[in-house]
Amino acid sequence: MNAYTRILAKKYPTFCINSVCPGYVKTDITANTGFLTVEEGAASPVRLALLPNGSPSGLFYIRTDVASF
Ligand SMILES: NC(=O)c1ccc[n+]([C@@H]2O[C@H](COP(=O)([O-])OP(=O)(O)OC[C@H]3O[C@@H](n4cnc5c(N)ncnc54)[C@H](OP(=O)(O)O)[C@@H]3O)[C@@H](O)[C@H]2O)c1
Repeated sequence: MNAYTRILAKKYPTFCINSVCPGYVKTDITANTGFLTVEEGAASPVRLALLPNGSPSGLFYIRTDVASF
């Protein structure tokens, strides 16, 4: 997913394409064992989805911080 993010970001330079790990969230997939609420987990992908045009692209975030691949 991280590699594909970079490929897409390079292929579509006018789009803002990033990936994000939301943290460990209480949802079905974690059998509700996560540390974060759904609202806390949703905040980071929603923030990226609302970035204005021209924002950084091709990055991987862990919650709100840019992380290395
Ligand atoms: N939770 C975490 O800690 C965590 C951490 C890192 C990354 N993620 C990633 O975040 C994403 C969402 O995870 P989540 O925690 O929100 O999981 P979730 O609570 O299990 O929700 C998964 C969602 O995907 C839908 N879905 C599953 N198969 C589908 C299909 N074939 N077509 C359409 N929709 C489908 C489910 O719909 P139904 O409810 O209708 O079945 C459900 O709404 C996943 O890619 C997961 O790997 C989660």
